[in-house]
Amino acid sequence: MKVKLADRIGFCFGVKRAITIANSALKANRKVYSLGSIIHNSQVVEKLAEKGLATIKDLNKAKMPCAILISSHGAPPSVFEKIRNMGCAVIDTTCPFVLHAQKLASKMAGEGYALIIVGEKTHPEVKALVGFAGGRARVIKDKREAGKEVFREGEKAAVISQTTQTMANYLDVVGVLLNKGPREIRVFNTICNDTGKRIRTASLLSGTVDTMIIVGGRHSANTRRLFEVCRSLNDSYLVETDKDVMPRWFRGKRTVGIASGASTPDWVIEKVVKKIKLERGYVINGEIKNTG
Ligand code: F3S
Repeated sequence: MKVKLADRIGFCFGVKRAITIANSALKANRKVYSLGSIIHNSQVVEKLAEKGLATIKDLNKAKMPCAILISSHGAPPSVFEKIRNMGCAVIDTTCPFVLHAQKLASKMAGEGYALIIVGEKTHPEVKALVGFAGGRARVIKDKREAGKEVFREGEKAAVISQTTQTMANYLDVVGVLLNKGPREIRVFNTICNDTGKRIRTASLLSGTVDTMIIVGGRHSANTRRLFEVCRSLNDSYLVETDKDVMPRWFRGKRTVGIASGASTPDWVIEKVVKKIKLERGYVINGEIKNTG
């Protein structure tokens, strides 16, 4: 059986950056709390916890003196304000792609546009974007929800996307909104480069293999979307670690493709490949390389 890796695999730039910043802060011997998981990958969260990074959901749980780390997904301005009012330092790891979307949210809402965010209401990145729009934003998940949108007479709209959405879903939503006839609609492409490339390379790989394995955290939005895309194209399985790999998936199969979410470390992918190797006895082209 042949194992092929997607061209874009392992950590994205924003996740690498967040982990580097967290490690430097921990080395400085400060008490650091991460407000929510630093990334949506429990293996990485556990490793950082061993180095002293405690994860809290509620700022009131932080023991002073301390620093609070904001994840790569960002946080609403009110959270930054609360941290500063508590007298804590902020370690901001918000991804630059997310920062760009936040600036647009703030600018367009400030100019009187009805801000529409295509994404998941409960995701921290989307909650932060709503905060940057001063709470004046509508969140739409898909074209079905877009169909329910109503624009007031003369209303103008600006549309941005959660950075990890698929372009196909974004275009579907925008297409439906355009038909709703707002006076003006401004559409910004805020999908990050990594997401687009990851989905394209995994889709291409899906077309050349018998089975796809997507490696990533179950709570990772970009991993789940990658899985959905691959599943629509091929026989696909989502695994968090090598322990989830089932030998029966590979019976009668000649080629397996591996793709990963943006918050999946290389060592987790490597273990998954090794497990497949053990199950099948041999692997060709199973070498792990970090393509960033
Ligand atoms: Fe940033 Fe894109 Fe990664 S938004 S955190 S580079 S998936």
